[in-house]
Amino acid sequence: MTAFLETNKQRFLDELLELLRIPSVSADSRFKDDVRRTAEFVRDKLTAAGLDEAQLFETAGHPIVYAEKIVDSAKPTVLVYGHYDVQPADPYELWHSPPFEPTIRNERIYARGACDDKGQFYMHIKAIEAMVATDGLPCNVKVMIEGEEEVGSDNLGTFVREQSELLKADVILISDTSIISNETPSLETGLRGLSYVEVQVTGPNRDLHSGVYGGGVANPVNVLCEMIASLHDENGRINIPGFYDKVADLSDEERSELAKAPFDLEEYKRDLGINDVMGETGYSTNERTSIRPTLDVNGIWGGYTGEGAKTVLPSKASAKISMRLVPNQTPNEITELFTRHFTSIAPAGVQVQVTPHHGGMPYVTPVDSVEFEAASKAFEEAWGKKPIPTRGGGSIPITALFEEVLGIKSILMGFGLDSDALHSPNESYGLFNFYKGIETIPYFYKHYAALKS
Ligand code: BES
Ligand code: MN
Ligand code: MN
Repeated sequence: MTAFLETNKQRFLDELLELLRIPSVSADSRFKDDVRRTAEFVRDKLTAAGLDEAQLFETAGHPIVYAEKIVDSAKPTVLVYGHYDVQPADPYELWHSPPFEPTIRNERIYARGACDDKGQFYMHIKAIEAMVATDGLPCNVKVMIEGEEEVGSDNLGTFVREQSELLKADVILISDTSIISNETPSLETGLRGLSYVEVQVTGPNRDLHSGVYGGGVANPVNVLCEMIASLHDENGRINIPGFYDKVADLSDEERSELAKAPFDLEEYKRDLGINDVMGETGYSTNERTSIRPTLDVNGIWGGYTGEGAKTVLPSKASAKISMRLVPNQTPNEITELFTRHFTSIAPAGVQVQVTPHHGGMPYVTPVDSVEFEAASKAFEEAWGKKPIPTRGGGSIPITALFEEVLGIKSILMGFGLDSDALHSPNESYGLFNFYKGIETIPYFYKHYAALKS
């Protein structure tokens, strides 16, 4: 195995770079053909890795890639999940090298999708290839790589419901999360959910002269800003009635357990170029970004934003708002609470419209399972250290659905770093992480097969 990985190192990287060159932006229909080309590329690499039945399943949106290798029906089955779609690369001008021309600098691969999730799911294909080519697979494996994770996985949900027989497995293995650092491996034991809405405030029936009408008519941009500002109180808590009603509070023990994860606040601030952090009173930065819910404006617009100054009182203002959810909040309930509250605080001079976008359930995975133990042992063997359990702040909505529909728990064996700039300009993935992941994954199979037998 070690020899195989060493001999094929350069080829593995070259293939990943080829994958990163295809701009598989799921949100933007201009990339539709590229998204399909990416799926075909992945399918062909699954075949080349020695998997059977590699194929595309068509959906109402982008195709799902699937392949499997059943070595022995008496052995347990691992279902690998990942996504080959990526976030839009905008703003392009902030990239130091073009997002779809992967470039290696300081031992890192710079490209959109380098970490999220092409670099990470591709490790699985190479790890499977290595197992097949050397000692053989110790478990059965099914691989499902989708093309719509970054837009909410709606069609995957339908696919999972329809194909529950095909997807039968004992554990789901996902590399689409982060570790604490390359010196401190960790395993995420939970993900936040998501509720995403777009709001629009409409005032006068047209843009107005801000001198002639200013002062006498509600300005939708002013109003929207005030409404948004009122959504947090002075303690950083979200001011929506009922918002915290179902939030699962952690016990002091659980909190002190999580607090053991090393965290360097100065380094955190330096990385982000900020002088101070902020958030909900009474919680640490790590807690604020994992076990506590949030409300954030993701984008806001309205009025004149072009060059120079145009004196105009805009007719409309809009914003996109995300709320990260924690157990036991549900996106439907939270979206409804938001809508009711946001509409109720609108002043008389404007009209407010709230449009829900995609959402997702929060997810937690138990740490006392055979699956978690196998993952923990795999890290220990490859990294020489036991991984620290952490709770993640991001969302992978399909994990909750896997549990609900298939009854299978997911293991979040990610190898990225929060500083990899996922969704940002200059996303990157460390070569160390790519190779270390390929080395760690086969250990999971080995320990899992042993623990299950
Ligand atoms: N891989 C991320 C989620 C993630 C990143 C989890 C880092 C933990 C650590 C995933 O691709 C993602 O971006 N998910 C979206 C959700 C979706 C519904 C668009 C997110 O979290 O914003
Ligand atoms: Mn991802
Ligand atoms: Mn993502």
